[in-house]
Amino acid sequence: MMIELLVFMSHYRITHDRKACIGCGACVSVCPENWEMIEKNGEFKAKPKKLDINEDEYNSNSEASTICPVECIQIEKIKVKKRSAEEMEFSEEDSEDSE
Ligand code: F3S
Repeated sequence: MMIELLVFMSHYRITHDRKACIGCGACVSVCPENWEMIEKNGEFKAKPKKLDINEDEYNSNSEASTICPVECIQIEKIKVKKRSAEEMEFSEEDSEDSE
């Protein structure tokens, strides 16, 4: 018997309004794996290490978006794509035959 196993992963895109960022660092506190403070012209502002994130990275980045006091972090779902299609083969054992 052939069974097709499909796995779907959601992907998200981060938009950061750097001009609106006041550099409070709350996003870095809750999501240091993707947010860091960068100094430019004597001013510290947040910067995402990457803009496209997957489902596993969504929760901590969503928390960063929620905690931001000026709401300058937006996250949108960009697509759902099929990660893999695996075929699994199962053999049927008939207990009556094993006697
Ligand atoms: Fe800036 Fe908001 Fe982070 S103000 S430092 S993006 S929490």
